[in-house]
Amino acid sequence: WEERSLRPQTLAQYIGQEAVKANLTVFIQAAKMREESLDHVLLYGPPGLGKTTLSMIIANEMGVNLRTTSGPAIERPGDLAAILTALEPGDVLFIDEIHRLNRSVEEVLYPAMEDFCLDIVIGKGPSARSVRLDLPPFTLVGATTRAGMLSAPLRDRFGVVSRLQYYTEAELAEIVERTAEVMDVPIIRDAGYEIARRSRGTPRIANRLLRRVRDFAQVRGNGEVDLEVAQQGLELLMVDQLGLDEIDHKLLLAVIEKFRGGPVGLDTIAATIGEEAHTIEDVYEPYLLQIGFIQRTPRGRVVTPQAYKHLHLEVPES
Ligand code: ADE
Repeated sequence: WEERSLRPQTLAQYIGQEAVKANLTVFIQAAKMREESLDHVLLYGPPGLGKTTLSMIIANEMGVNLRTTSGPAIERPGDLAAILTALEPGDVLFIDEIHRLNRSVEEVLYPAMEDFCLDIVIGKGPSARSVRLDLPPFTLVGATTRAGMLSAPLRDRFGVVSRLQYYTEAELAEIVERTAEVMDVPIIRDAGYEIARRSRGTPRIANRLLRRVRDFAQVRGNGEVDLEVAQQGLELLMVDQLGLDEIDHKLLLAVIEKFRGGPVGLDTIAATIGEEAHTIEDVYEPYLLQIGFIQRTPRGRVVTPQAYKHLHLEVPES
């Protein structure tokens, strides 16, 4: 499967997130030396920064199987029990969107994480009794867009908590070059940097833009991705100089034009532009905050003068 082979398989192949990588390298080596399972790992940060990829790498480096699921997919305690009892010693269980686990499932997870056991209630009413079932030792890798959305008891049960950061332009350029090589796409260095610059610090976006630009190069050019083809492709994809797309523009313009630049509440913005409040909060806002185009205030979101300038609009008098 192409998408999968594009992903780095080892920590050494993984570009960026140097602090996370350095820590994981030590913890993995130590666990292997002790012939123990790796402690549970919580990865948090905006989407597309490599949380799933890291879980695959952790399993690969530990030499164990990876079982992947997500918070919303585990509906009942029994669903989790079925997954846990099927694990082999040392396996990695990856739960994406772990903040979306419901309370009853979370409660099964606590003893599983802490003591590798399951408490099962058998029967009903006065004759009901609880049975303790041993589980093989395993590593839970949880991923979430914001650690603050996790309940404290769950968060406290992770021995390793790592926050993923937006990638630098140089790191993204290196990732684009690596992906181009794996996909066998000839690319000029400047073009890789152009894509990197417009990828909002996010490898998933960089690799998607590379694929689309490759299409342009193939149909409009000679197959080689050079700066001109990259710029033309990105223009047609409506990705601006800073990597902001149609939805970023819609969001900023809505706050500027309909709410005089804010402050305005998240739900009001969501209703105005027809996107989910959660999507705005998890996907669009973090980068706009990072580049200083919006600010969060107690009374709502405010668009900054930098955003007005980027959009070639006059900054209003305050
Ligand atoms: N592809 C996507 N993310 C990557 C990363 N961080 N390093 C290498 N290749 C990648």
